[in-house]
This record gives sequence, C-alpha cells and structure tokens, in this order.
Amino acid sequence: MKIGILTSGGDCPGLNAVIRGAVLKGIKVHGQEFVGFRDGWRGVVEGDIMDLPRHNVRGISKQGGTILGTSRTNPFDEGGPEVIKAHLERLGIDAIIAIGGEGTLAAAKRLTDVGLKIVGVPKTVDNDLDATDYTFGFDTAVQIATEAIDRLRTTGESHHRCMIAEVMGRHVGWIALHAGMASGAHAILIPEQKVSIEQIADWVNEAHERGRAPLVVVAEGFVPDHLETPHSVRGLDTFGRPRLGGIADQLAPELEARTGIETRATILGHIQRGGVPSAFDRVLATRLGMAAIDSVVDGRWGTMVSLSGTEIKHVGFEAALGNLKTVPQSRYDEAALLFG
Ligand code: F6P
Repeated sequence: MKIGILTSGGDCPGLNAVIRGAVLKGIKVHGQEFVGFRDGWRGVVEGDIMDLPRHNVRGISKQGGTILGTSRTNPFDEGGPEVIKAHLERLGIDAIIAIGGEGTLAAAKRLTDVGLKIVGVPKTVDNDLDATDYTFGFDTAVQIATEAIDRLRTTGESHHRCMIAEVMGRHVGWIALHAGMASGAHAILIPEQKVSIEQIADWVNEAHERGRAPLVVVAEGFVPDHLETPHSVRGLDTFGRPRLGGIADQLAPELEARTGIETRATILGHIQRGGVPSAFDRVLATRLGMAAIDSVVDGRWGTMVSLSGTEIKHVGFEAALGNLKTVPQSRYDEAALLFG
C-alpha cells in the first residue's frame, strides 16, 4: 500500500514526529510505502510529491516545522475531488494521512464523503480542537511563552514597570491560561472572558502596591469589554479572516494612563510555533502518527486519531468540527484566584 502524507495549515512543533511515527510503523510493521505531498493540499491538488523512504525521516522528531512544507490551500478552491483522484491514481497513492487543524479536517471530511481514503491527525498550537484532550505543539508553545514571560518579569522588576505579554490564541486562551499560570501572571486575559479595563487596571495596581512588577498575559484574540470587536486587525489571512494581534500594544497606553505605571508590551508571535518540540509533544506526535497507520490498516476512513486521557483513540472527523474547545469557566476562575 502506498500512503501520501500531508501537513496543512499553520505549522507547529511536532509535525515531523508525526511523519516519522507513521512512516516507521508503516514500513516496519506493514511494509507500506510513503510519499509526502509538498505544502499541504497544494501538493495534493498539483500532484507535487516527494519520496519518504525510511532514511528521510531519520532523526526528524526533534526538528521544528515540517519537512513537507505547509500552506493554507483549500483543495476545494483549487482543484477539487476529481483533480485529486486523477493525481492519486496516476501516482499510485492508495490513502492519505492529513495532519492539520479544523480547516484541514473539514476539507478531509468533504473529500472522504466523495470516496477518498483519508485519515486525520489533529494539529493546532492553540489546543482548541474538540474531541482530543491535547494537541501536539501546545506544550511547546506554552514552554516557549513561559520562558519568555519569565524573562519579561526580570526586566520589568528592574525598571518597576508593568509588562504585557501577548501570546497566540485567536479564538481561545489555552496558551495564555497555561503560560500565565506557569509564570505567575497578575492577570490573564483570554477571548472567552470579557474583562473591563478597570478590572485589569485594578489587578495591575494591586500587584504594584505589593512591590511587584505587574505581569499581564493576554491572548491575541482578547477583546476588552469596552470594545465591540477585535480592534487590532493586521490584514486578512488566506481564508479572508482577520489576522489579529496587537492587543498588547493597545492595552499598554490605556493601562499606563489609568495606573500611572510605566508599561511595555511584547508580542511573542510566531516564536511560539518555531523550534524544537518538547519531549511531551514528540511523544504525543509520534504516538498519533503510529495510530494513524492503524487507522489506515483498519480502513477507518473519515476518522482522526485523538488523545483521550493517556489513550490514543479514533473519532469521526465531525467530532472535531464545529465546536471549538474553549477554556471552561472553572479553569479561568481557578487561575483568577491568583490575579492581582
Ligand atoms: O491557529 C494557529 C495560529 O498560530 C493562531 O494562534 C494564530 O492566530 C494564527 O495561527 C497565525 O496564523 P499565520 O501563521 O497564518 O499568521
């Protein structure tokens, strides 16, 4: 059997470990053959592939990014099922392992519905996919953000400043919640929670009055309750959705004006998605890649592998689509007990 692997959407640490896990298990246990599609669905709709023999995946689980490249190409905008089927037939590819987030899995579901043999591996650094407890890449992003915030704290303390760190999280605040808790932030601001600018200023003042350098961690998609919509839209992404970011730059002067405390903003941005994956992410990603091979062998088309507790399970694509996994109120309340 010949299997094509693709990585699609925003990259994140651990993608290469998935590829390695799938290729090694497929070759060693089932004698399968592998190719990689270059740049996600673009490689599928254009029939652009590279060979993936065993030696091409040697040592890659610790490498950041993806050896296959990625893109945000939607296969239904460019090509469609008939073009893809023709390429797969010509290239002798029997099945696809699609590693990606909600957009990738939605496309994979539509293609499976018209007869293509696809299994999915969920991926998002934001950890916002439903039907899986954790996504690989998230742990690494939290680690990177925590280390950066720890560094902001020491410079903030030296200058008696308030420091604001903006982390990724377009729709959900998992990275902000975890990195904020890990670094002992005095306020954590996430898209799921409306918080007034007065409340944020109160938390900052409380920390300052105790002689601390106030530390605010904000997710890029956070909207303070005096604003209707995200106010810092940095153009549109390839899906025509607003690219957020810059809320920290907006908050800094507002907080400085209200508190009188000199305030600086830092946007961590794509640093959170780059570099080597954590050990946790390498293990999770490798296990998911290996489990994707089980799905292929069992012909579980239209399903994705997922983490449930410590077990890897198989769930239908539809389980991951439609609902974002948001930060529950109880998790935010727990963290908020330590604010100020
Ligand atoms: O969805 C993952 C994510 O990292 C978001 O947190 C962020 O808003 C977005 O991707 C950035 O996308 P791009 O890499 O296309 O700028």
